[in-house]
Amino acid sequence: MASVPVTMLLATWLPRAASTATKGVDAPFQALYVVSAFAVILVVGLAVAFVRLFGRRDAEQKGEAGTGFSRLLFGLWVLAAAALAVFAVAIGLPGYLDQSVPPYEAFPVGVTARTGAFSFEYPGGNFADTLHAAVGRPVVLNMESTDVVHGLSIPALRLHQAITPGKTSRAWFTATVADTFPLQDDLFSGDSLLVARTALVVQNQADYDQWLQSIADIFAGRTLPEVGELLYSRMGCKACHTINGARLVGPSFKGVYGHEAKLRDGTTVAVDDDYIRESILYPNKKVVEGYEPVMTPFLGKLNDKEIGAITEWLKTLSDHGGTGDGAAAADTTGGSRKEK
Ligand code: HEC
Repeated sequence: MASVPVTMLLATWLPRAASTATKGVDAPFQALYVVSAFAVILVVGLAVAFVRLFGRRDAEQKGEAGTGFSRLLFGLWVLAAAALAVFAVAIGLPGYLDQSVPPYEAFPVGVTARTGAFSFEYPGGNFADTLHAAVGRPVVLNMESTDVVHGLSIPALRLHQAITPGKTSRAWFTATVADTFPLQDDLFSGDSLLVARTALVVQNQADYDQWLQSIADIFAGRTLPEVGELLYSRMGCKACHTINGARLVGPSFKGVYGHEAKLRDGTTVAVDDDYIRESILYPNKKVVEGYEPVMTPFLGKLNDKEIGAITEWLKTLSDHGGTGDGAAAADTTGGSRKEK
């Protein structure tokens, strides 16, 4: 059949298919493509043919427009158009319905979209910057946005889902090919041009299980400051705190440890382990002068060990860090930190 090479040709236009959903998308796409191309050729061809046919008539014969309105032709045309619409729905619907309802046993992965980054949460509360899946195992993505509208797009899975703040969006897939595929944010909003790009990593079940274990402990293979830095980007501190001295929504972390912070109520407080812990868990108890109390409390989101790691990391950003707790008290000359 002539359509076989055509569909093979069309298939090369689409990204390599890597999920069970691609059948429900690619075949209707190609069918509609062929039908549309045929319709365009038919209409343009007839138009050109009629222009040639009727354009040759003598001058006297012009202007005698045909009055023969044909109910039959009109009816046939309406029927043909309706049949096309029914055809389009009929071939697309199974794939659509299939994608609308995740299978019962699907493995849940939480997705948090924020400007510039996706973060993926696996059962047990473990995070990663890439989406991992096992071959042949359905995965359901429960997606939320922390800021503006984002779009999760994985072309190889023919998967696209808008993620609107304030509601959980869902999508599911079963990957069929073990490989790494591009994954990106394809809806741009807000005032940033930062586009989150990461990857979908499809592995066989054994490799996947091993990987799941490797992310279970963020402390494994990392020093405390390294974990602190990881949490800084992963928990979104980055959005409000710089490490180069520049102020954002919140004060910079540069040189913060071991100095004295001037508070709104006029008092000063030494930035030591306890103050940092309190600032992270109950940020609105002591508000730094010149800033608004807008930091979200991380109570229940960071445990003591993690806060300890952040503290160790903050020490590395300060020349007062090395001497530990005593440094703040010893700092009589410094006064409050300078902000730019
Ligand atoms: C929405 C913006 C925002 C995010 C996200 C945020 N902070 Fe803050 N943070 C602030 C603001 C504003 C202040 C100053 C006002 C105050 O003290 O509450 C502050 C103050 C602090 C202070 C005290 C700093 C000082 O100079 O005394 C620490 C420590 C801190 N944040 C740590 C963190 C950590 C760690 C994270 C991530 C786990 C984080 N913050 C996430 C906005 C934020």
